[in-house]
Amino acid sequence: MGLEKNDLIKRAAEDLKKAKHAIALTGAGISTESGIPDFRGPFGIWTTDHGAERRAYQTYEKFLEDPRRYWEERLNAPSLLGDLEKAEPNPSHTALVELEKMGILKYLITQNIDGLHEKAGSRNLIEYHGSYFKLRCVKCGSRSGIKEIDLEKLRIEEKLPPLCRCGGVIKSDVVHFGEPIPIDAARRSQEEAWRCDLMLICGTSAVVYPFAQLPRLAKKHLVEKETKTESGLYLVKQVPAATIIEVNAEPTPLTEAGISDYLIRGKTGEVLPGIVQEIKGIQR
Ligand code: APR
Repeated sequence: MGLEKNDLIKRAAEDLKKAKHAIALTGAGISTESGIPDFRGPFGIWTTDHGAERRAYQTYEKFLEDPRRYWEERLNAPSLLGDLEKAEPNPSHTALVELEKMGILKYLITQNIDGLHEKAGSRNLIEYHGSYFKLRCVKCGSRSGIKEIDLEKLRIEEKLPPLCRCGGVIKSDVVHFGEPIPIDAARRSQEEAWRCDLMLICGTSAVVYPFAQLPRLAKKHLVEKETKTESGLYLVKQVPAATIIEVNAEPTPLTEAGISDYLIRGKTGEVLPGIVQEIKGIQR
C-alpha cells in the first residue's frame, strides 16, 4: 500500500485508540468483497441497470396501494443483490467486530440489508435500512425473522399479506425509497451521531438521505477546546466533537465538503484489518 495510505492507517489507529465513543457507519462498499454488488460503484446495480433503480423507487408506493401484490411480486423475484443467504462476511466485517470486542467501537450503523454484520458477530448494530432477513409490522413496528412466517403457504392459500397480531400489515423489514426510517433506528442513530467523538464511515457514497445527514449532524456537535498561543495565552475554541474518517474506494460528497477529516482511499477489506493490526501493534 502507498506510503500516504499507510500513514493514514496509522493516524486512524491512533485516533481510534484515543476515542471515548467511536462509532462506524457502513454502506454497500463494505460487502462487495463478499460478492454482493454495490449500487453506485463502477459495477453497481444502479450503475448497470437504471430501470432497476426506477422500479425500486416505486416499491413502497406499490406496497401502500396493494400489499398483497407487493408480496406476490416479492416472493417471485429474487433479490437484486444475488443470493444473500450464501454470502459470507469478509475481512471488513470481521475487523469491525474486533474493534467492538476491543471496546473501541461502541455502535455500528449500517445501510446494508444483507445481514452480514450480524452474521460476522457485531452486537451493537442498527440496520438503518432494515434487513432482507426480517419482517416488520407497519403498525406496531414489531420485527420477526423471515422464516417465522410461511409466506409461500399464505401465497398458496391466498392469505397474503401476512397480518400482525396487532392487526397491522407485515412487510419486509427492508426500508424502501420513500419509506420512513423506523423510528427506533432513526432515533438511536441520531443519538449516536451526536454523542460520538469518532465516526468511521466505510464503503458508502453518502448520497442517500436521511442516512447521509448523520455525519453532518456529528460535525455540528461542537465542544470547547483550550489551546495555548505562542505568547502563553490560553484560547478557548469551538471545535467539532467528532473526528470523521472515511474509508472508501473513491472520494464522496463528505470528502468534497470537508465533513470528513480525511479519506483513506482503498478497499475496506484491506484498510480496516490494517487499522486493527496497527492498534494491536500500539497495544504491544
Ligand atoms: N472498499 C471500499 N469502498 C468500496 C468498495 C470496497 N471494497 N466497494 C465499493 N466501494 C465504494 C464505492 O466506490 C461507493 O463509493 O462504496 C461506495 C458504495 O456506494 P453505494 O453503491 O451508493 O452504496 P450505499 O452508499 O450503501 O447506498 C446507500 O442507496 O440504493 C440505496 O438503500 C440502498 O442502502 C443503499 C443506499
